[in-house]
Amino acid sequence: MNFIRIVTRLLDTDHPSPSLAILDSITNVAIDELREKYSYEVLYLSIILLILVTYWVGKRHNEVLAKTTMAVMLPLFRSNFARVGDNGAELAIDSPHEYIIYLTGRRHVATVHGLIKMRPRQDLIRTLFTLLSTPAQDICTLNVTMNPNEYSDGVFAIVPKSTGTAIRNKHYDLTTFTKASSQKALDSSLITLTESSELTDAIVPLVSEKLNKAVKWLDYFIVSDQPTHKPDTVPTQPHAKRISLSFRLPNAKDAREILPLVEALVACLDGLPRGCQVSSVTKTKISKAREEALKEIGKKVQAERARELEEKRLKEKREQEKNLSPEAQRKLAAKEEKKALKKRQKQVTKKV
Ligand SMILES: *[C@@H]1O[C@H](CO)[C@@H](O)[C@H](O)[C@H]1NC(C)=O
Repeated sequence: MNFIRIVTRLLDTDHPSPSLAILDSITNVAIDELREKYSYEVLYLSIILLILVTYWVGKRHNEVLAKTTMAVMLPLFRSNFARVGDNGAELAIDSPHEYIIYLTGRRHVATVHGLIKMRPRQDLIRTLFTLLSTPAQDICTLNVTMNPNEYSDGVFAIVPKSTGTAIRNKHYDLTTFTKASSQKALDSSLITLTESSELTDAIVPLVSEKLNKAVKWLDYFIVSDQPTHKPDTVPTQPHAKRISLSFRLPNAKDAREILPLVEALVACLDGLPRGCQVSSVTKTKISKAREEALKEIGKKVQAERARELEEKRLKEKREQEKNLSPEAQRKLAAKEEKKALKKRQKQVTKKV
C-alpha cells in the first residue's frame, strides 16, 4: 500500500530532514496513483464509518424507544404482577431492535410474554432493504396466557377496519371461528370479529372506552382459546386460553399514548373470569364448532398418512424389484408391459 510505503520512508533514518523526506517520498510514489488509491480507501473507510455510526445511533434510538415504552407500562405491570422481568432485568434485550417483556404472578394469569420489536435501525443494509419493500414498523405485542377454565371458550377480536381482513386471514382461529360485525360502542374505525354475540356483549364493555382512546396505535386485540396457526396433528389437550394485544409505537416523546391499550388488556384479566360466562346454548354451539374444526384437522391428518403409506409401499416394491435376478426382472417388466397394453386397449375400446 502506498501509504505504508510513505510512512516507512519517513521512518527511514537515512533521510536528512522530515520535510525533505516527505517530498522525496511523494515524488517517488507517483502522485496520480496515490490519489487513485486513496479515493478507494476513503470510500471504503466512509462506508465502514457509516455502518458503525448507523449501528451506534440506531441501537441507541431503539433502546430509548423500548425503554420509554416500557416505562409507560411499568407502573401498571408493577401494580398487577408480582414479578416483572427475568434475572433482574425488567426489559431484556434480545437484539438491538428486539426487547423481551416477561410478567408472572397474578390471579387468573399464568404468564405474559411480550416483545417490543422495532425497525432494525442499527443495521444499515437491512434498513436500506426495508426502505425498498414495505416499511417495517415499531410494534409491541403482549401475549397473556390465562389460567384454564375460568371463563367461557370462544374467539373474539377487535381490529381496525382497514386491516381487519388481512389479520383475520393470518390467524387460523379468527378465520375458522369468527364473523365480522361492527359495534356502536367502538370507534367507527374498529370492527369486531366474533364467534358469538354473547362474547361480544361480555367483552366490548370491558375494553371499548380504553381502546377508543388509542385507536390510532391498535393492531389487534384478541381473546381466544384456539391456536393462531392451524395444527398439523389433532391436539390431545385443549389449547391455552390467551389474550393478545398488539400495537404500534409512537415516537418516544408520545409514548404515553399507548397506555389506554395496555389498560384495556389489564381490565380483562379480572373482567373475563368475572363477566365472560355464556349461556349453555351458546356454550354447546361453541364446543360444536371446535369438534367440527378437529374433525377437519383429523381428515387432513388421515389423508396425509394414507399418502405416506402409499409412498412407502411403492418404495418397498421398487427395492424388491432391484433385488430380483436379471431373468426375473425381465419377466416382471414384460408382465407390466402386458398389463399396460391391456389397459390402453380397454381405453381405446371404451372410446370407440
Ligand atoms: C404472541 O402470540 C403470537 C400468536 O400465538 C405469536 O405469533 C407471537 O410470537 C407471540 N409473541 C410473543 C412475544 O410471545
